[in-house]
Amino acid sequence: MRILKCDTYEEMSRSAADQVAAQLLVKPDSHLGLTAGKTPLGMFAELVKLFREGRISFARAHFYNLEEMVGWGPEDEASCCRYLRRNLIDLTDADPKNLLLPNGLSSDIDSECAKYDALFDALPDGRLDMQVLGIGSDGHIGCNRPQEKLHVESHNVRLGPDRYAAAMGMRSILLAKRLVLVANGKDKAQAVADMCGGVITTAVPATFLQLHPDVTVILDKDAASLI
Ligand code: PGA
Repeated sequence: MRILKCDTYEEMSRSAADQVAAQLLVKPDSHLGLTAGKTPLGMFAELVKLFREGRISFARAHFYNLEEMVGWGPEDEASCCRYLRRNLIDLTDADPKNLLLPNGLSSDIDSECAKYDALFDALPDGRLDMQVLGIGSDGHIGCNRPQEKLHVESHNVRLGPDRYAAAMGMRSILLAKRLVLVANGKDKAQAVADMCGGVITTAVPATFLQLHPDVTVILDKDAASLI
């Protein structure tokens, strides 16, 4: 696990964008797993900037996300698909056809999840080239929340009253060739410390990242304050 400690959120965002940009320069047709939280907004803004400066192209890349919200279609503001279009796809040369998220409007979310895993299995190497992650203050990654048993495969998960998501399972996350995790703020510091050095436990799903051979953790000062 490589840990990059940055002074500010802006520096963290630039550093994360550099990781994604480097991936695209090496492999322009990369299959990129993204995350739609608050943390990566700065990273997306930096990626858009790099695109506008003519330094990277997204034209040949394919995009996935850690989850899609059940009940929301690609055009709905609350969907992850829309989030990625708003913050990256529509602001660059990325092809919207290459944005491959589960369909949150499907009447059969279980089969959407199975299809999502089949998509990853069918990739040239059977896995994503890179997955960008955030972390929850409880140590969750994606929608894989602390519990006794974690889901290996993509699954329909309840996030709250009337809120469900079709969520990528631990397998596809941990199989990605490279993981880049971004975190900022004091409320993430304990989860980050557990992730980096705590015992591996389903009570802190991010601890499983310790088993991955190529993880870059990019933190602002506050998120790094306990390591
Ligand atoms: P956040 O979410 O970026 O909105 O803090 C992180 C996460 O839940 O993975």
